[in-house]
Amino acid sequence: MSSLPAFQLRPILAADHAAVLAWNAEHVELLSPLDADGLRELLALADQGLVISHNGADIGFVITFAAGSAYQSPNFRWFSARRDAFGYLDRIVVEPAVRRAGIATRVYDALEERARDLGPVMCLEVNLEPPNDASLAFHARRGYVEVGRQEAHGHVVALLEKDLTA
Ligand SMILES: CC(C)(COP(=O)(O)OP(=O)(O)OC[C@H]1O[C@@H](n2cnc3c(N)ncnc32)[C@H](O)[C@@H]1OP(=O)(O)O)[C@@H](O)C(=O)NCCC(=O)NCCS
Repeated sequence: MSSLPAFQLRPILAADHAAVLAWNAEHVELLSPLDADGLRELLALADQGLVISHNGADIGFVITFAAGSAYQSPNFRWFSARRDAFGYLDRIVVEPAVRRAGIATRVYDALEERARDLGPVMCLEVNLEPPNDASLAFHARRGYVEVGRQEAHGHVVALLEKDLTA
């Protein structure tokens, strides 16, 4: 029997937009700015936009893209210029109160399963200057490796990827 916490992923609906914008605003220095129009545009181009629930409460969100999307993020374009096929995680937030409980681990298990069909590589970026230590530790532990760096949204980011066939 698993000791991991109960969690659920469901599509972001219009009724969730205010919560998603609030989660993004609370972590904007780790993600990138997002307003209501931007969220609608993001979701129209995304592969998946999901609310993360834990024990019945909504505790975060995640948005992913697939290769070939018209998404103009400089980090997504960085991978698009180098790979024909990949899954891309644009942003994730797990609320502080439920961190270090294995929630993001469960979310990534599901997302990487899907990216296996899209890639089979999962790509993303993490702030390096200033460093997002929690995210860097999380991704290192999961086997993500740095394949490049660039400046975007006023930060130096590490471009990370994970070969899902390994
Ligand atoms: C990064 C984030 C999604 C991780 O979510 P989480 O649910 O707490 O992660 P998990 O509980 O599944 O962590 C799994 C492992 O990753 C590592 N890890 C996660 N957070 C860590 C931290 N703050 N410091 C060191 N290691 C950490 C640990 O090895 C952890 O295992 P352990 O708790 O058994 O030691 C969460 O911290 C978050 O939402 N941060 C704010 C937004 C953000 O930075 N998003 C990513 C942008 S790239």
